[in-house]
Amino acid sequence: MSARQITIIANWKANLPPSDEVDLARRIAEGLRSEGRHTVDPSRLRVLLAPSTLGLVPVASLIRREFPTSGLQIAAQDVSAGGPGAFTGESPADHLVAIASAVIVGHSERRRDHHESAEVVGRKLARVARAGLAPVLCLGDDLPNAETEVRVSLVQSQCAQALDAAAQHGCAPRELLAAGLAIAYEPIWAIGTGRPASLAIGEAIARGLRASTGMVDLAVLYGGSVEAAAAASWLGTSAGRTEIDGLLVGGASLEEGHFLAIVRAAARAAGGA
Ligand code: 13P
Repeated sequence: MSARQITIIANWKANLPPSDEVDLARRIAEGLRSEGRHTVDPSRLRVLLAPSTLGLVPVASLIRREFPTSGLQIAAQDVSAGGPGAFTGESPADHLVAIASAVIVGHSERRRDHHESAEVVGRKLARVARAGLAPVLCLGDDLPNAETEVRVSLVQSQCAQALDAAAQHGCAPRELLAAGLAIAYEPIWAIGTGRPASLAIGEAIARGLRASTGMVDLAVLYGGSVEAAAAASWLGTSAGRTEIDGLLVGGASLEEGHFLAIVRAAARAAGGA
């Protein structure tokens, strides 16, 4: 368990204009540098910033130019389901590869606002993996009061549908894994509500997904009202890790102090501080 890499992702959504995203990225990178955090073994802890589409290029350029040893990586919040070509307004994975190392796929806000089906999510997964980017597949139930087993089987079936759709588009589960697939369990009722899921639910989902996919080392992250103060309990310590391999952070990633505290907790769990 403790050998699994911890992944922390700041999902800034569309909260900030690109100039503010650049400023926030700078404050986070400076914070990491002043804490000596860049020395954490990247095979044990990776930290990704996911700016808005408009912020991807300026934030990636800042990190590359001014903080090349920060270890900070860039994730895209979404990707086109199609390839390069005559697709107005789209961002193909083949182009993102020059900017990002991972892509969030199937976030519940996109499923809700853009009617993204499992089929579309599967096509995106296949595009991302084939381009050499790591897919972060978001899954989550909308059942605040359900029994844990109901929740687990719903998320297992969401996962199976997305993986099946990716396979139909020529990308088998083992190829997704080879590309660095991670699942983010983000219960819809926990996102932006200040009401996170319990660790017990998150761990049951993580175990359930590893069992149903047969991917024993599948990385499962949690997202939904993660606060800095709770990060350590989500991840555990290097002496006793939980089943959760990282955090997908929304609101708390918009303030560098909160986000850096989450990274500190992750570094302790990863055995790097
Ligand atoms: P919050 O942390 O603001 O609840 O957002 C979670 C999320 O949707 C991250 O992708």
